[in-house]
Amino acid sequence: MKIAILGGTGEQGFGLALRFAKNHEVIIGSRKKERAEDAAEKVKSILKERGIDANVRGLENKDAAKEGDIVILSLPYEYTLSTIKDLKEHLDGKIVVSIGVPLATAIGDKPTRPLPPPQGSVAEMVQEKLKNSKVVSAFQNVCCRALEDLDNPVDCDILVCGDDEEAKKVVMELAEEIEGVRAIDCGELEMSRIIEQITPLLIKLNIKYKLKGTGIRITGF
Ligand SMILES: NC(=O)c1ccc[n+]([C@@H]2O[C@H](COP(=O)([O-])OP(=O)(O)OC[C@H]3O[C@@H](n4cnc5c(N)ncnc54)[C@H](OP(=O)(O)O)[C@@H]3O)[C@@H](O)[C@H]2O)c1
Repeated sequence: MKIAILGGTGEQGFGLALRFAKNHEVIIGSRKKERAEDAAEKVKSILKERGIDANVRGLENKDAAKEGDIVILSLPYEYTLSTIKDLKEHLDGKIVVSIGVPLATAIGDKPTRPLPPPQGSVAEMVQEKLKNSKVVSAFQNVCCRALEDLDNPVDCDILVCGDDEEAKKVVMELAEEIEGVRAIDCGELEMSRIIEQITPLLIKLNIKYKLKGTGIRITGF
């Protein structure tokens, strides 16, 4: 599978690239091609040290969106719509993974406060804009530090939701390729309202208890 990560130069996208490049072709997207290429080289060199010859490239976001079979939006919430607005034709029919968390940092307020968009969640905001894409919501509750730490399994459930069952299944299988991860089908895309709002709580716990990166586990099934 060809996985494009728009904004993959940032911490979360980079962590996902490291994990997915073991089994897939990964394209890191950026506003600047050189930045994407630098990040791609870094992923390749980290994986090479572990004996993995990864297929990773860097492209501008537009070209990454064009090439990806699955496109992950790893962008600050407040710049998501402005980034995808000209990419609709390249994203039509594709699985688009929304990982954004709507934090009040977008307006200069605290990272422990949610600030959902009028659509209810980032994922629903993306689906409203990309009517012909299959938007799946996932990866909001896993910390970039856990993803980057290839020496350890990721101790986190990935809560996944979406309105297209097939697309959701593909993303769940992808998530479970990450060692330690269990993916949980949480239902329709609107459940993303709740999933996204768990993250400010995790950030609060990181700050309060001076932790590096808390995650979430659902018990009982
Ligand atoms: N960090 C985490 O632990 C974590 C955990 C869970 C969920 N998330 C979510 O994952 C997403 C990415 O997080 P992150 O921490 O990696 O974010 P980030 O580093 O702040 O941003 C990711 C990338 O977005 C691009 N970007 C920045 N400003 C932009 C603008 N004005 N317009 C278009 N692109 C812009 C930058 O890439 P270029 O400069 O190369 O274009 C940047 O490297 C966010 O939605 C966040 O809520 C993060």
